[in-house]
Amino acid sequence: MLIGWKQLAGLVVGIALIGLVVGWSGVIGVEASTGHWKITDWLLHGAMRSSVRTAAIGTEVPTFSESMLPMAAGHYESGCAVCHGSPAMPPPASLRGMLPVPPDLKDVIPTWTDAELFQIVQHGVRFTGMPAWPVMEREDEVWAMVAFLRRYPALDAESYRQLAGHAASQSGDASRVLESCNGCHAPERLYTDSLIPRLAGQGPAYLRDSLAAYVNGTRPSGVMAVAVQSLSDRDREALATHFASQTAIRLGTKATSGQLGRGEQIAHSGDSERRVPACHSCHDRTNANPSYPRLSGQPAAYLVAQLRLFSSGKRGGGPYRAVMSRVAVNLAADDMAAVAAYFATRDPNAELPTYAGGERR
Ligand code: HEC
Ligand code: HEC
Ligand code: HEC
Repeated sequence: MLIGWKQLAGLVVGIALIGLVVGWSGVIGVEASTGHWKITDWLLHGAMRSSVRTAAIGTEVPTFSESMLPMAAGHYESGCAVCHGSPAMPPPASLRGMLPVPPDLKDVIPTWTDAELFQIVQHGVRFTGMPAWPVMEREDEVWAMVAFLRRYPALDAESYRQLAGHAASQSGDASRVLESCNGCHAPERLYTDSLIPRLAGQGPAYLRDSLAAYVNGTRPSGVMAVAVQSLSDRDREALATHFASQTAIRLGTKATSGQLGRGEQIAHSGDSERRVPACHSCHDRTNANPSYPRLSGQPAAYLVAQLRLFSSGKRGGGPYRAVMSRVAVNLAADDMAAVAAYFATRDPNAELPTYAGGERR
């Protein structure tokens, strides 16, 4: 006898109803304390591995560099170690009751490819507590984390602390907040190849605007979103004033003289053929708008990364950010590197040049 579509529909509705009744009756436990059955555990983790493997197909992996590590390590300390522990600290005992328990990453990282780690860190794992990256726009930050995770299994407590600084504590206490910033931004932790900007000696108005932009989301960064999440308005004001009054150190350079020459040319005169204005018409000059950032003595790697973000429309920023996006879209990649090298090697404490051309918009 053939089953008609009516019987089939009845069967489907019946099964759905039984499912609802079982769910409503409360016989399915949701307690984390009892754990999963072996089979559920195997199915869930298997499903997670397959899902990640499929999502990672076709992902292009960028080249990793040392410049990615300190920023990612600092973020790991404040955003990941609370669940996964670190070489300097075992995971908190209270999390042993989580289901699933956050794994010790040292053991599991070697079982994943770079593209798969990227998927996990970018999107998180549903139903497990493993969170997604705080902002979706910043794949570059997620890749930096993947570069750090690759290095992670080989780190001991000392080498981990060196990379991560002391970015640990995030309490409301003002001095401990400053300590957490200093884990990444301490003036003496600055070096040419870093993605972490120099704050010492930066204009207070720009620092204030930038912190506000991280808080209200107009400047997307997962790393800074986590760093500012517990700051009050007064903390922000105090921190901007503090960093602005500090003395910056001067960086060395790895750039060639050809690069520095080209960088200086763009900074002073721009490139009219490519519709690039002179950087000094807005930056690092006397009578500059106090809300515009100073670039001198900023790490070259950081400057290049920000220029790339501006030109791809992902940088965001304070109230004047649109002005800078229009400049960056016309900069060629090698000119970005050249002008970044020029500003990185300038003495951040030197007198600012007077710029004859006037401010251009
Ligand atoms: C709130 C706790 C929590 C935080 C914070 C957290 N994780 Fe996780 N993470 C988990 C849990 C739970 C799992 C297990 C998921 C599973 O088994 O399916 C996990 C899984 C992972 C995995 C896959 C490991 C495996 O083989 O199952 C990686 C990689 C990872 N986390 C990295 C990170 C990184 C990097 C950060 C910080 C950006 C982070 N996690 C922050 C809880 C957390
Ligand atoms: C985990 C490392 C880390 C910690 C901790 C951290 N920062 Fe940052 N900070 C960064 C990175 C990386 C950037 C660049 C982010 C971007 O791409 O916009 C940044 C950018 C900034 C900027 C913008 C600077 C500029 O030139 O545009 C300010 C201001 C700032 N941070 C202040 C702080 C303050 C204040 C704290 C402490 C509450 C803090 N940061 C904690 C890594 C960190
Ligand atoms: C018309 C004015 C103007 C010109 C010309 C200009 N900029 Fe900018 N620039 C800005 C403003 C405004 C910001 C701040 C945006 C924000 O974060 O709110 C900025 C930000 C930047 C930043 C980010 C700094 C940081 O700490 O994050 C870099 C890097 C930069 N500019 C490089 C350049 C370079 C290189 C040139 C020359 C090719 C240039 N700018 C020309 C206005 C200008």
